[in-house]
Amino acid sequence: MQEPTLNKPPRHIAVIMDGNGRWAKQRGLPRLEGHHQGAKSVRQILEGCIDEGVEYLTLYAFSTENWKRPAGEIEGLMELLQIFLKQETEEMIREGIRLQTIGRISDLPEACQKQIQITKDETEGGKRITLILALNYSGRSEIVDAVRGIAKDARDGKIREEEITEEFVSSRLYTSGFPDPDLLIRTSGEMRLSNFLLWQLSYTELHVTSKLWPDFGKQDLREAIQDYQARHRRFGGV
Ligand code: FPP
Repeated sequence: MQEPTLNKPPRHIAVIMDGNGRWAKQRGLPRLEGHHQGAKSVRQILEGCIDEGVEYLTLYAFSTENWKRPAGEIEGLMELLQIFLKQETEEMIREGIRLQTIGRISDLPEACQKQIQITKDETEGGKRITLILALNYSGRSEIVDAVRGIAKDARDGKIREEEITEEFVSSRLYTSGFPDPDLLIRTSGEMRLSNFLLWQLSYTELHVTSKLWPDFGKQDLREAIQDYQARHRRFGGV
């Protein structure tokens, strides 16, 4: 029988940070205020993950579907992201946090792209945790981009059909080089994957909490990790 994951922290946690809008609505505040509070939870959870020994944290910060939101909310989110990275870069260097991104970054506003590149470059040496922001990301578009690349290489005679294994496909995704998530946390109670890491979540343990993202703190993270540690992961075996 597979050992329970007892005492071992998940190596990689992925989070669908949902409920910022509802948090704001409950208080009669504009939706953007919910996102600002959500950024505070990001800081808390990042610190919490470092304390718990988690090596990778992937956050779903902006999906390809989020472009359907009102222009003001999109602008506000992009600005928030840019300011967050600018303000946090020094602290990230001190704390050993390396920034990486997944998604079609080249479609983000120019200023945002620049700040992402600066923070990535400056935090490159971070060894304690890798923070992966999913920006303009969707699992399906990631798979489409990978398939296009593979088709091109096949057409150019660079790869043979039998070389296309699961490991090979994984190596062509945005997440190439990162381990698959061990634990997925989704806040605000929705039971959906919402086009997040469709390939990578195949064997990931799921933890859904009714807490809204701005209310999700270090204690909630500890509870999610304890829930994970009590599970038996069999990866399809017995
Ligand atoms: C989902 O809540 C949340 C988002 C689409 C944005 C996530 C962004 C942040 C947490 C803040 C900025 C991030 C970083 C990394 C600094 P929702 O708006 O869909 O909530 P609702 O379902 O209640 O409307």
